[in-house]
Amino acid sequence: SCRAVIFDLDGVLTDTAIYHFYAWKALADKLGIAFDEHDNEQLKGVDRLGSLRWILQKGGVSLSSADESRLMQQKNAHYLQLIDHITPDNLYPGVQPLFTALRQSGIKIGLASASKNAAFVVERLGIAAQFDYIADANKVINSKPDPEVFLLAAKGLGVAPPHCIGVEDAQAGIEAINRAGMKAIAIGDAAVLNGALKIYPDVAAITLTDLLNV
Ligand code: BG6
Ligand code: MG
Repeated sequence: SCRAVIFDLDGVLTDTAIYHFYAWKALADKLGIAFDEHDNEQLKGVDRLGSLRWILQKGGVSLSSADESRLMQQKNAHYLQLIDHITPDNLYPGVQPLFTALRQSGIKIGLASASKNAAFVVERLGIAAQFDYIADANKVINSKPDPEVFLLAAKGLGVAPPHCIGVEDAQAGIEAINRAGMKAIAIGDAAVLNGALKIYPDVAAITLTDLLNV
């Protein structure tokens, strides 16, 4: 039975994915490396260093770790500037009703994000207080598809993994949920996402009954 639902943040609860893309694109342009929206699909769910290294590799560039740190800092400063306007209006439709239904059913709500900005973003979305536990990139060593961030969330919630459902929009995230021994629900396109028990176009399409029957 379902005792907790653990959500990814970027691309599931809000569309910050586009701002990550703009910021990486600006950096890639500066480095003279071609980078488009299709490339960006590969970076969903991938942490900051992993994303930078993916872009550098595409450009056939390898840098010292000091240079990598400097570029990550630049990208993040730009990203923070781009998301500066985020308000509760940026919460995807359907999120609040689903959270309310979960709360009323006594099902715990967790977050498992690859972003170091997760706490800031959920604060700005106005939903921070609704999470029973937040696991993010600041609290783990291994990035998705490693299950660490989902396992940490389950531990923080006090719910055993088989009683948890994970909700993800990234292939790396679905893999992380499965490796954590949880049930995976995907948000997005069935043509590109594999390994989930169910797939929905967006959070608004998920009902409490669906979750109880997974
Ligand atoms: C993930 C996003 O949630 O977080 C990625 O899908 C992003 O696009 C990653 O790169 C890391 O985010 P941050 O905020 O720590 O740079
Ligand atoms: Mg995501």
